[in-house]
Amino acid sequence: MIIARTAVELRAALDSKMGSVGFVPTMGALHIGHRTLIERARVENDVVVVSIFVNPTQFLPGEDLSKYPRREDADFKICKLSGVDVLFYPDVNTMYGKDEVSIKAPDIRGYILEGASRPGHFDGVLTVVMKLFNLVRASRVYFGKKDAQQLSLITQMVENLFMQVEIVAVDTVRESDGLALSSRNVYLSQEDRVEALKLSASLKRATHLVMQEVRETKAIRNAMMDILQPLNVEYVAIVNRRFEAISEVIIGDTIVLVAARAGSTRLIDNVWM
Ligand code: PAJ
Repeated sequence: MIIARTAVELRAALDSKMGSVGFVPTMGALHIGHRTLIERARVENDVVVVSIFVNPTQFLPGEDLSKYPRREDADFKICKLSGVDVLFYPDVNTMYGKDEVSIKAPDIRGYILEGASRPGHFDGVLTVVMKLFNLVRASRVYFGKKDAQQLSLITQMVENLFMQVEIVAVDTVRESDGLALSSRNVYLSQEDRVEALKLSASLKRATHLVMQEVRETKAIRNAMMDILQPLNVEYVAIVNRRFEAISEVIIGDTIVLVAARAGSTRLIDNVWM
């Protein structure tokens, strides 16, 4: 595995490889969710590139940028064992200069739900993703459905800016009890961990109701809120794939999302129907 720390090192590493490039952008603290993305990229491409970069521009003031988990040695091992060919591990000065051009998320879709709780977050995500896409020039890039709004906005950016890359969406990987894997789960105390299960439990209930032919989103939302009590819920939303609110579930075009705090840790989860 080649470890590239600068744009020049990355280009040299990629120029030494032949064939299709599969790319998995991450912020590190890798878990089985990330590994599943890497394994999928491994199967579908000749060359696999992973980036690890805790992107400062997608953290708002007061968020967990400085305490975001950093596990360089373990992450490098995981990448090596997963068959990664090139690991891009830049520092902030490689990725950003002063007074730069940046990407602005769309006014509505970029500023609702996650974007309402974290205004400007998606500007930072799209800007770094654009930079990484241009650095790696991959054939396919892999993203988790866990971050549904991020995935949707990146897909939209690729369409709106006529970018030549295929976005591959990968199902959310969960613990056996249903908790969606997340680098932020390390913040959860034992009590928080139990509370956190209410997110996936509420989504299970939503799925169950839809299987019983319930389509009215208001009824589904209410049933979810009952399960989520007494968590501090930021939103429960039922939207179509374009992130527009809907009053009736349409199978094949619906995402049910929840964001809530377990203790002080903010968690998100969703299910695609
Ligand atoms: P990060 O949170 O490290 O996630 C990297 C990728 O792993 C994302 O596409 C995310 O959706 C996916 N992922 C996380 N948990 C998952 C799970 N349980 N199952 C499946 N996939 C999962 O998302 C980011 O980093 C950043 O915003 C980034 C895109 C790298 C830009 O900085």
